This record gives sequence, C-alpha cells and structure tokens, in this order.
Amino acid sequence: MNSPQEIKAEILRLTRQYSAAVHRQNHPGYEKITGPNFVPGTTVVPYAGRVFDENEVEAAISSTLDFWLTLGPEGEAFEKELAQFLGVKSSILVNSGSSANLVAFSALTSHKLKEKQIKRGDEVITVAGGFPTTVAPIIQNGAVPVFIDNDPITGNANMRFLEEAFVEGKTKAVMMAHTLGNPFNLSAVTEFCQQHDLWLIEDNCDALGCRYDGKLTGTFGDISTQSFYPPHHLTLGEGGSVNIVKQPRLKVLVESFRDWGRDCWCASGKDNTCGIRFDWQLGELPKGYDHKYIYSHLGYNLKPLDPQAAIGRQQLKKLPNFIQARIDNWNFLRTALADLEEFIDFSLPTHATGWSKQNGFDWDNSGHRTECSWFGFMMLIKPGAPFSKLEFAQALDAAKIGNRMLFGGNLVRQPAFVQLRKDYPEALRTIGDLKGADRLMNEAIFIGVYPGLTTAMLEYVVETIQKFCRKK
Ligand SMILES: Cc1ncc(COP(=O)(O)O)c(C=O)c1O
Repeated sequence: MNSPQEIKAEILRLTRQYSAAVHRQNHPGYEKITGPNFVPGTTVVPYAGRVFDENEVEAAISSTLDFWLTLGPEGEAFEKELAQFLGVKSSILVNSGSSANLVAFSALTSHKLKEKQIKRGDEVITVAGGFPTTVAPIIQNGAVPVFIDNDPITGNANMRFLEEAFVEGKTKAVMMAHTLGNPFNLSAVTEFCQQHDLWLIEDNCDALGCRYDGKLTGTFGDISTQSFYPPHHLTLGEGGSVNIVKQPRLKVLVESFRDWGRDCWCASGKDNTCGIRFDWQLGELPKGYDHKYIYSHLGYNLKPLDPQAAIGRQQLKKLPNFIQARIDNWNFLRTALADLEEFIDFSLPTHATGWSKQNGFDWDNSGHRTECSWFGFMMLIKPGAPFSKLEFAQALDAAKIGNRMLFGGNLVRQPAFVQLRKDYPEALRTIGDLKGADRLMNEAIFIGVYPGLTTAMLEYVVETIQKFCRKK
C-alpha cells in the first residue's frame, strides 16, 4: 500500500502530465511562437484570457487535496508575496475586484477612524467614465459620488476638474481607477489629497505593474485594490485584494468588513490571538462575551478559497513576464497601425503628448513619467472617420477578434445611475458636461494585448484593421 504522500505525489505527477497535454494553448505566449492551431478568421482572438501552465494546475490540485478550502496557508503566503511585490504594508485577499472596492471603501466608514470616518452624505470625487464597481461602494455606503470628466485620450480623470469638485467640509476622499493599465495623474491627485486631507483609494484592478515616476501604482494612496478575474494581469479565476499602503490600522478594519464585521482579528482556524478573548466589554454586551462573536461593523463575508490563492502564488512568479508581454504587444499594435491616425486617435499614457515610430512617446514638461502595464489597446474613432465605432466593432466581431467598450462608458448614463438620479437626485453630483466621458462612451473601443496572444494573432489583427479602415 502506498503512503498518502506517495499517492499525492502520483496524483500531482499525473496532473502535470494532463495539464501539459490539454492546456497547451493557455501556456504563456510571450515566446511569440506562431500558434500551430491558429486559423485566421476561424480561431477566436480573445481580448484577454487565462495564461498558465502545469504549475498553476498542480498548485490548485495540491491545495484541494489538502482540503483546508477556506482561506488558509496558501492565502496567507500569497498575501505576503503580493504585498512584497507591491511594496505595501499588507494585502488582504477577497473574492473579486468589486469586493475589494467595497471592502476598501467600507473600511473608511468605520467609526474607529473617529474624525477621519467617511459618513453618510459625505462626498467622494470619482470619474465618470469607467467601471461601475469603482463607484458603487460609495453609494452603497450612503456617500455621494462627485463625477468629474475623463480625458478621452488617456482614459483617466481630467485634472482640470478636481478643485471644482471639492467642497470644504464635505469632500472626504478621492476614489478612481487607473484606466486600462494607464496610471492617472498621481502627482496632481496625491498633492490635492494632501492639501485637503482626503483619503485616496486607487482602483488598481486593471493596472498591476504600472509605474508612475518609477514607483508602482497602487502604492500612492491610502488603500488600493486589485482584481484577479481572468482578463486581468494575474488570475485566480475569481479574486481580488485590498492593499494597505502605509497605515496598519486600516488592515484590521478591512479584515473586519471582509470577515462578517467582526472585532476579532484571529486568522481562520486560530483562537485568542489577542490573548484576552474572554476579557472584552464592547457595545452593550456583557463583559467576557467571546471576542470571536463581537461585531463592530456591518460586514460581509467576501473571502476567496485557499486553492485560488495557491494558483495566485504561481501566477505571481510569471507577473514580470506578463507585464513585459503586454507592453510588447501594445507597442507592436501601435507601430503596425501608426498610418491609421487619419481615422483613429490612439490612447496615450498620462503625461505623454504624442508618439512616433522613431522616438516612441513625447512627454509634457511636468517632469513626471508613466510606464503603462497595459490592460488593453484603446482606440477612439475620429469624428470625421468614414465609419462608426459600432461598424468597427462589428467588423472585428465578424473577423473573430475580441473587442470591448471602455466598460460602462459614461456611468451616469447607465440605467442604474439614471434611475438613482430620478429616485434620489441628491445621491450623486456631476461637474461640467462630462463630454470626455461621453466621447469614451461613443467612440472608444479596445482590443487585447494579453500575454496569450501570439505573433500570428497580432499580425492577423493588424491586417484586419488595416483592410477595414482602407476599404471605407
Ligand atoms: C477598474 C475596475 N475595477 C473593478 C473591477 C471589478 O473587478 P471584478 O471583476 O474582479 O469584480 C473591474 C473589472 O474588470 C475594473 O475594470
């Protein structure tokens, strides 16, 4: 009879063999091999997807065989490794990027923050064009989002409107995303937040690996968030994290909101970390009430599973190559499509003023520099172009080339927000006419740059776009 260890080793050996046989097409594509099974026009060119090898599959099976299931040893290790990669105090795993935004914002509504607590009716500056769950937690917590406009070329918040959005005594935070792997103007935003003593929550879900003046995004604000849904830079299937940049007091609050709202901070499976489990008196509970069952917040349960974290640990090892592949793929597309500028406005990194084949990006004279870890390749169809964005998207679809809108476009025009304005006009505020966000809604489209794209796929994408634009 084999020992359990021997049985496990055999299962894992077979797992690797199986994965190597059936997941070939998901292997990292940064070797730039021509996919042997790629048939232009028949094989789908996804805009994003999972890229992994035998290591992720083995890690998932190994952790599943151990059957701890809920967040445990793998989660703890991944949280440490991710925090180390980012250079933040700590990272706390949750089950999605949306949960990360919800928990991050909710933590700032804790009464334990005293005068820094975000209360109902307080205002939070955000940006109109983007993904809905960057903004939803503000409203779900009874605060008021104040939407400023986007610069359509970078996709990020237009800094011209920050001061106009500010109301002394009401504005408490800025919460916005680095759009499609392009850092927003962190110099302007951090200075604004410092000047007015505001919280800064960076939604870094689409921007893992971006740098601003050489420093990783997600490390400038008080809290930042990641998503590990498959199209993102790393995938755990589902998942996300809340990153605590500097203040350790925020970690306990984030964990409380993630874990049912409890006051206790014991890790899963542990008791009496505080050493006074039966010595607390909080609220109107009797003295000695078990600390494990004392609730300081109206929380949730948003933990992922341990096998997901095991997958994440393997993905993290691939991250530097993933980031480079995204940059290389973006540069390939930009160069090969350069002669289409009469039809298309190509996206630019924040602080860049132009791009040329010879010199790459030109920069403004601010002295600040961004390094994008691109989520996608965004294009804006020029107003005078002989085709519409819709026609362009339909042509890509017909050619089996994955494409996406810039998520929700101008969010205030989405049915959920229109209804909110109708039911509760004071529930949100907008600054100016939001024309930039409207342009993103009407004219922006993006295609993939993810590491699973092969040279053959990218060449086919270029050929298809060239033919479409020239025919029109
Ligand atoms: C900017 C941004 N924030 C948050 C999310 C939500 O992440 P998740 O899908 O993991 O909930 C997304 C989704 O892609 C996103 O693009």
